[in-house]
Amino acid sequence: MCGIVGYIGERQAQPILLNCLSHLEYRGYDSCGIAVSDGAVKVYKDAVRVAELKKTMPDFDGSLGIGHTRWATHGEPSRVNAHPHGDCQNEVSVVHNGIINNFLKLKQQLTSEGHTFVSETDSEVIPHLIEKYYAGDLEKAVERALADIEGSYAIIVMGYGENTLIAARKDSPLVIALGDRENYIASDVPAVLDYTSRVIYLEDGDIATVTAGGVSFRNGGKTAKRSEHKVDWSVEEARKGGYEHYMLKEIHEQPRVIRDTLGDWLPNGEPFEDLKKMSEDGTRTLLMLGCGTSYHAALVGKYIAQEMLGLPVRAELASEFNYHGRALPETLAVTLTQSGETADVLMAIKRLKDVGCRVMAITNVNGSSVSRLADHTIITRAGPEISVAATKSFLAQLMVLYWLMMSCARVEPKRQAEMVLQLRHMASRVTQVLDSEAEIAERAGYLAKYNDVFFIGRGINYPVALEGALKLKEISYVHAEGFAAGELKHGPFALLGREKPVIAVLTQDATHQTMLTSIREVKARGSPLMVLASEGDDSADSLADFTITVPRVDPLFSPVVNTVTLQLLAYHIARKRGCPVDFPKNLAKSVTVE
Ligand code: F6R
Repeated sequence: MCGIVGYIGERQAQPILLNCLSHLEYRGYDSCGIAVSDGAVKVYKDAVRVAELKKTMPDFDGSLGIGHTRWATHGEPSRVNAHPHGDCQNEVSVVHNGIINNFLKLKQQLTSEGHTFVSETDSEVIPHLIEKYYAGDLEKAVERALADIEGSYAIIVMGYGENTLIAARKDSPLVIALGDRENYIASDVPAVLDYTSRVIYLEDGDIATVTAGGVSFRNGGKTAKRSEHKVDWSVEEARKGGYEHYMLKEIHEQPRVIRDTLGDWLPNGEPFEDLKKMSEDGTRTLLMLGCGTSYHAALVGKYIAQEMLGLPVRAELASEFNYHGRALPETLAVTLTQSGETADVLMAIKRLKDVGCRVMAITNVNGSSVSRLADHTIITRAGPEISVAATKSFLAQLMVLYWLMMSCARVEPKRQAEMVLQLRHMASRVTQVLDSEAEIAERAGYLAKYNDVFFIGRGINYPVALEGALKLKEISYVHAEGFAAGELKHGPFALLGREKPVIAVLTQDATHQTMLTSIREVKARGSPLMVLASEGDDSADSLADFTITVPRVDPLFSPVVNTVTLQLLAYHIARKRGCPVDFPKNLAKSVTVE
């Protein structure tokens, strides 16, 4: 997803902008560029990585500037389509993240008025609209231009020799970071953590005028006040910390993430009132929503809630819910999103609130759009997740779900106490998995040659099979699919054979016997077979080509250890295949378009 940055202060803008952009690379991009002004705007951009841009670009003098990493939506990745974009006279320069739905109409109109466009992008209409409306005041021209635009945007504008940056957002994240006689603007906090931890999040509809000495806000034509937040992520937390990839570092951070996330509640956690009331009167329904990995967490949450609360629960993909989903006003919705900026999730929340549902959000980013929209927000303590593939944020989401449901559970006190104990030991169980990384890496070496891999699981480990497949496909480009094991015979059997390995997640719960049946069926059809089995469970040893032993935990908590095992497996397969683990092609960390 595109990333944008801006700097205004007393130092040279160019090196600062390039550094900030390099910290936005994790969002995924295909081209990049910057513009610097010393009264006149100078632009340099190309379809290259930030490091390459840095090597090739000339030195631009100037202490204000803007930068962009582009993730192509309108027009191929190329120098001309890269941002910043300018007007006809090159007096104004704009970086944009988002999508302008009515850009074709605007482009036709502007062209008929004499404007010349050079790119295929939707974004280029913005500088031309600003040029059209500029009459000596950049902020006013931006405000007027944005009134013509339908769609989503986070933009930064500079130009006409004015010593200000204008930033604005609608449905795309943007943050202003405050320094000492200098200020920064960025799509995301990690971009600016080298310089400051004081941030202000823009609200939808905000237009901010940023100078070296201050920031002012307007919204809906009126002055607005926005409060400052302190980011408690360290620079070190946001960097690789000696690991070869962010993904590996983030996988290894999971014991800490579990402790931090549970540390908020385990000592004397309060039950969540909405959920408690619901479990007591049984009149409401629970709806869990998310996308991608967060949807898989929602699915695990469904199984946890059904067992602990004894309630029927729905889990839905936010992107599907937005067009076909129905919810009654008495529904409590639990939305999961690492970034808190996923457009599909934001749409779903708006839709749910329109019908009067209460919405709880579980997100990793305090101050994110979702956290500001939901009625109640729980922040996971995963810390910044840089690798595009979600790992530690998923585990943090699971921890919140376990605690959330447990705090309202309708189970015997003895069972409740057992579950608290399981949670207390979860971090060390994950450490045990991490300690077996060498063995998992060896198994990965065996699987790395295959181009199709299937994952099967049942019950609460069905979403784990989906997540295992998603991790593998996104970072290794191997075709991978997750199935509920019972569904194999309804179609996927046709695909099995020597070239199609199957990874089975075997758990010692009510599904154990029937999973063994599925495992035998797979074996009979000749697929290479790898089984994840709990310590002490040798029931599949004679059938499997390989077994990976995972720590024995209560089956309700088995998704935690199984998922970490599959994360490591995916990581090592991708590494062995020489894939760019942290920044897979065509993917973005924060999906802020529908
Ligand atoms: C997979 C992955 C994506 C995200 C999805 C939702 O590893 O990262 O599938 O889970 O784009 O993102 P969030 O959780 O930010 O809403």
